[in-house]
Amino acid sequence: MSRSSKDNPRRFYGRRAGHKLHASQAALVESLLPEIRIDPSRRIKDLRNLFPNDVNEVWLEIGFGAGEHLLWQARENPETGFLASEPYINGVAKVLTAVDRDRIGNVRLYDDDVHHLFDGLPDNSLSRVFVLFPDPWPKKRHNKRRIVSPFLIAHLARVMPPGAELRFASDIPDYVDWTLRYMQNSPTFAWTACTPDDWRRRPPDWPETRYEKKAVEAGRPAAYLSFRRI
Ligand SMILES: C[S@@+](CC[C@H](N)C(=O)[O-])C[C@H]1O[C@@H](n2cnc3c(N)ncnc32)[C@H](O)[C@@H]1O
Repeated sequence: MSRSSKDNPRRFYGRRAGHKLHASQAALVESLLPEIRIDPSRRIKDLRNLFPNDVNEVWLEIGFGAGEHLLWQARENPETGFLASEPYINGVAKVLTAVDRDRIGNVRLYDDDVHHLFDGLPDNSLSRVFVLFPDPWPKKRHNKRRIVSPFLIAHLARVMPPGAELRFASDIPDYVDWTLRYMQNSPTFAWTACTPDDWRRRPPDWPETRYEKKAVEAGRPAAYLSFRRI
């Protein structure tokens, strides 16, 4: 199904800023962010052209928080290009600091709602997408704010080719059920788990995030779901 952001029934509900940025972070937001920022109004023919070095494929992380997972994946996979969106500027600033310090060339950022990006992305252009510990919105009346929705799934189905992988994690059982329900109702993705360990254990190529650490310490184990684009 083709969707346009003009149909977007959603808006961003989370926090955009926390404590004041350090002077060095504010300087990077001014200088480095414009250099590596994805322009959502630009239609991009081949996402690989966004990166200065050759990349074989492109992955997307939605809501990267403080960026631990994104930076780990970018360092581990130098031949993959990473698009990553996060409206929380303090998280963006943390990633900019690491990108600048370690000269990480395979990350491109969008400092706002990921839904704005989809219109500019070509069909079948992302071979992996991560949605890790999305904001839980546990109250029933807030459930509709959850980022996993038929709207997001329709966008992902267009930009991910058959065989591409969607990784989702949450420590909120109701959100895990919610995601399984929506994904299993979608003819475009299949859950890959065969045994309970496939979703109870985090795979070795999937590092812990800050949010996950807090959840596990608070006694809330996570579920790790992997879906294959059919
Ligand atoms: C609970 S935090 C988890 C952060 C990180 N993935 C982790 O595991 O530590 C969820 C993040 O998703 C971001 N987020 C929420 N809605 C978003 C949207 N529409 N587009 C991009 N990011 C979003 C929030 O700003 C927040 O940083």
